[in-house]
Amino acid sequence: MNRTTYTAAGFAAAALLLLAGCGGGGENDKAGKAGKSTSISAADRKEAHEIFNTRCATCHGQFGRGDGAGAAALDPKPRNYADAAWQKTVTDEYIEKVIVYGGSSVGKSPLMVPNPDLEAKPGVVAALREKVRSFGQ
Ligand code: HEC
Repeated sequence: MNRTTYTAAGFAAAALLLLAGCGGGGENDKAGKAGKSTSISAADRKEAHEIFNTRCATCHGQFGRGDGAGAAALDPKPRNYADAAWQKTVTDEYIEKVIVYGGSSVGKSPLMVPNPDLEAKPGVVAALREKVRSFGQ
């Protein structure tokens, strides 16, 4: 092999690696986008706090105990986020996926409503996930 073929082969290998890195994953990739690497700004945290109190607390309760006013009518009821055992079993990606795409996206109750407007706000989604995590500490 001369030098040129080496370079071409190397380039093809690099291109394949790149493709492999980007492809596959499907649904998981969507949720993964807002994973741990997402940086959360102070504005994101503020917005997440407001969203939690206005949207989520109705069912999940202000402190995430699953005791919001709307929870009485729900079956299954939202769990208590303070449950440390549950916190350990779920990934950040899972929590973020539930928040954006709703319960049915992870085989849970569709009464956990999706929040499609948050798809474009990974920082706010990450901040909401952080909030859900904070109730378990
Ligand atoms: C209309 C009521 C309702 C609202 C509003 C709501 N949820 Fe839920 N949520 C539920 C229910 C019910 C479940 C439990 C689903 C199940 O166990 O099948 C749930 C489950 C979840 C879970 C998964 C917990 C688990 O058991 O695995 C997360 C995370 C979550 N909600 C976050 C949120 C956040 C954040 C918001 C606000 C953006 C929100 N929810 C708004 C009803 C609601």
